[in-house]
Amino acid sequence: VEPILIGGESELVIGRGLLSAEAVLPEREGRSAVAVIAQPGSAMIGRHVMESLVDSGLRSEVRVVAEGDAAKTIDSALEVYLWLNDLGIGRQDTVLGIGGAACTDLAGFVASTYLRGVEAAYVATTLLAAVDGAIGGKTALNLEGKNLIGTFRHPSRVVIDLDVLDRLPDHLRSDGLSEAAKAGLIGDPELVRLLEDHKRDAPLEEIVERAVAVKVLVVSEDFREEGVRAFLNYGHTVGHAIEASTTMSHGAAVAIGMTVAAEISAKLEGFRDAGRQRALLDGLGLLPAAMPAIDRAEVRRLMGMDKKRDDRGLRMVLLREIGDPVVRHVDNATVEAAFDVLKGALA
Ligand SMILES: NC(=O)c1ccc[n+]([C@@H]2O[C@H](COP(=O)([O-])OP(=O)(O)OC[C@H]3O[C@@H](n4cnc5c(N)ncnc54)[C@H](O)[C@@H]3O)[C@@H](O)[C@H]2O)c1
Ligand SMILES: [Zn+2]
Repeated sequence: VEPILIGGESELVIGRGLLSAEAVLPEREGRSAVAVIAQPGSAMIGRHVMESLVDSGLRSEVRVVAEGDAAKTIDSALEVYLWLNDLGIGRQDTVLGIGGAACTDLAGFVASTYLRGVEAAYVATTLLAAVDGAIGGKTALNLEGKNLIGTFRHPSRVVIDLDVLDRLPDHLRSDGLSEAAKAGLIGDPELVRLLEDHKRDAPLEEIVERAVAVKVLVVSEDFREEGVRAFLNYGHTVGHAIEASTTMSHGAAVAIGMTVAAEISAKLEGFRDAGRQRALLDGLGLLPAAMPAIDRAEVRRLMGMDKKRDDRGLRMVLLREIGDPVVRHVDNATVEAAFDVLKGALA
């Protein structure tokens, strides 16, 4: 499989049957050990790859970290550092994160700081990690707020095995499809059409390739998020607030966030496809028919704490057209009015 360059020396491989030592980590001069970091949902895959690495003559062990964002804590990072010490990981060795994006965020953070930086590589085992979290070189731990600690550093390699993604449970497919739809909406009208035509049965290979291409392009123009990288936050200002105040998944919350952002886009930017976008997200099964009650005051308060707020108010990503995003200041009244459009759905 031909790797795709995804920033600096970093390469991405998308294919099937890639869970072997050769596919995951091409030989590298001086590497003698690989520390594999997995999470509960990827532990079997992690062990399988570790065994293949051992068969290829490398020293390798797996550590299964906590579930989800519980892995992205300073305590969890500390445990991993101590484990790397025990393993005797050196400058030429590799930290291999195998899992969803919470796992790769932790693995990437630890790799970028241990010994002032050792090689990191990822096997993205959720659709969200494949189309978004494992790409782009942001690593992160949480500290009260999400992702408040982190580094910018590309992994040397990201591997996406479509056989793994084909077997994902529905809720993990939904979270990834929400980010794939986002990628299409901000940067690839053809990806939007694919998702409209095939809905949840959309061919994963093409979806992943196209969504990755959008992310790679945006990140290559703005690695440190000083400008266009912010477009990747489409739907996330309102989405994060909903996610934090309900039990909704990230993908479902972002789908509602994008629906609100599209209404605001229609009002402020003349966006004509708000209805089309809503049909797209609904067709993907991302907009719940009966929404759990959302405390609007709480959502407003949380939005007020958004990282992208400045003294002129909230800054949101809006669409002029599908594939043509902008960042604009949006006042509270406009956000409230957009919420009203979703009345009945949003309590
Ligand atoms: N670094 C970035 O640029 C970036 C971008 C977006 C999101 N993120 C981060 O990504 C995280 C969310 O990513 P995620 O949705 O991948 O979450 P996750 O890593 O928490 O994984 C979700 C769940 O899937 C399970 N799992 C993993 N692989 C599986 C498989 N093959 N089959 C079945 N279950 C499997 C995990 O155990 C977990 O329960 C958040 O922490 C978010 O902050 C980072
Ligand atoms: Zn997201």
